[in-house]
Amino acid sequence: MLENLEVLPPDPILGLIAAFAQDDNPEKIDLGVGVYQDDSGRTPVMQAVLDAEARLLETEGSKSYLPPAGTAAFNTGVQQLLLGDDCSNRYGGRLASIQTPGGCGALRIGAEVIQRSSAGNRVWVSDPTWANHLPLLGGAGLTFETYPYYDLAGHRLDFDGMMACLQQAQAGDVVLLHGCCHNPSGADLSLEQWRAVTDLALQKAFTPFVDVAYQGLGAGLEEDAAGWRWMAERVPEMFIASSCSKNFGLYRERTGALVLLAETEQAAAAGKSQALNAARQIYSMPPSHGALAAGLILQEPALRDAWQSELEQMRNRIVQMREALVEQLGDDFAFIRDEFGMFSFLGIAPEQVTHLREKFGIYMVDSTRINLAGLNSDNLEYFVAAMRSL
Ligand code: LMR
Repeated sequence: MLENLEVLPPDPILGLIAAFAQDDNPEKIDLGVGVYQDDSGRTPVMQAVLDAEARLLETEGSKSYLPPAGTAAFNTGVQQLLLGDDCSNRYGGRLASIQTPGGCGALRIGAEVIQRSSAGNRVWVSDPTWANHLPLLGGAGLTFETYPYYDLAGHRLDFDGMMACLQQAQAGDVVLLHGCCHNPSGADLSLEQWRAVTDLALQKAFTPFVDVAYQGLGAGLEEDAAGWRWMAERVPEMFIASSCSKNFGLYRERTGALVLLAETEQAAAAGKSQALNAARQIYSMPPSHGALAAGLILQEPALRDAWQSELEQMRNRIVQMREALVEQLGDDFAFIRDEFGMFSFLGIAPEQVTHLREKFGIYMVDSTRINLAGLNSDNLEYFVAAMRSL
């Protein structure tokens, strides 16, 4: 059986991890996969997570199964983080959540629910979008249309193009939006633009599906949420995929949630039951460790304060790297200062990406997406010199 299969190439993003590890250049720089690095190039466990884990070690008396939807502390905490502390008053039974294995699990289970609905299976995705969106959603049987989003040559958001294209969206369609820190471009919608997309969603009756993988790493925890909160208050129905990989540094613990906002309580209950049924068919139930830790952090004021200030330091360091890079590379790269989160496109030629990798040991995604958090005070000069040599 297996001999009938072909060997597939490595994943375009995850493959970079292995290639980087094998490179013996002592000055190599990893600007590839979207993982936060501190100024010494490390990805430490956040202190609030370590403290929560120490608490769990003392109190977690069993490794028996979690409930299929995960823990209430985590689900409630994530809902409040996404939609505000008063969200249960505001939305009541219209809101339902399940804990998922990372943001990927949330995207996939959301796609399974959409596929089961009679409303349709067409999803509009931004051009460009995260490389794994299509396999994740497409694996559930959804089909795609793209809307223009980032003008690579002009280094700017193409909002007019996006809005003109989404005029074609119809009732029953889903429009996938990046909540903040657009991956791969770093170009985010302003609040005014979120308002315009909200009006369009109401006019065309499409369902927004918001992927929130970087809350707190763009303009701040609350600031990043302003756009999708505006939308949630107005649209009848919305899906949100939330990830704790980046903002809690829980990458390998696969911690996330799918949040459904439905038009009625009954529709929310139906959506949740379908999500749980789909999860049972694929992985049965979510892993617990990361969600127990994140749930504690979100519920305990002291842990939450510590987490928020560490997250703010991470965010500030990325902003500083954006500024330092533009200062060194000059105004041609000024757009990097205006973008948010870990990523921006350098916009160099494909052969220059290869040259940087082979000659300097500098790794980035072939699209020229760089992870700004891979830069630090030690390697910035080396990176700038390599860029100037192109
Ligand atoms: C990325 O875009 O680099 C991250 O989200 C990691 C991944 O899984 O691709």
